[in-house]
Amino acid sequence: MRITGWTIALTACIMGTFAGVAPAQQSPTATTPAANATVQPDSLRSTQAGVYTEAQAKRGAQTYAGFCLSCHTPTSHIGTLFNQNWLSHPLSDLYLYVSQQMPQDNPGSLDPNDAADVVAYMLKIYSMPAGTQELAPDTVALKKILIDTRPKGPTP
Ligand code: HEC
Repeated sequence: MRITGWTIALTACIMGTFAGVAPAQQSPTATTPAANATVQPDSLRSTQAGVYTEAQAKRGAQTYAGFCLSCHTPTSHIGTLFNQNWLSHPLSDLYLYVSQQMPQDNPGSLDPNDAADVVAYMLKIYSMPAGTQELAPDTVALKKILIDTRPKGPTP
């Protein structure tokens, strides 16, 4: 009697499983180009794409020395904490944090251009390549740049 009961339960279970799986197998639309385009629009760029200039990062290093170095070290922006906070985030998150929450002793005091320069410097520390266009203090544009994984490189 108990065995029969189990068999019925098992059969119902297996049928339930198949019933659940079947619709998922019948949805090839998930891999159509149109669906992919929604997930990753062409306008999204990686910080690997050369989104700041060398000259800008140099200016950023000066600003960093003046406003950040009293509390931070450059190496503190390449480790686990930094990755937890910023990896895969839009660059606008980091920019807004730097320009609104930092320097912690005078939040929001940085000029927007200086904040963008500091972010450029942080990208350089993070081993992201420089490019030909400066990083603008434009949160709409910065939202379309995603913070990419730091490649293995020399520590600052
Ligand atoms: C007076 C000290 C002080 C100064 C100056 C300062 N910070 Fe910070 N900063 C902190 C503290 C403290 C935290 C941690 C805050 C928290 O966790 O809430 C922090 C956190 C951060 C973080 C987030 C943690 C991380 O590594 O992801 C970033 C990024 C950052 N600061 C960047 C800057 C930059 C850029 C400047 C200069 C423009 C600056 N800070 C100036 C004290 C300071």
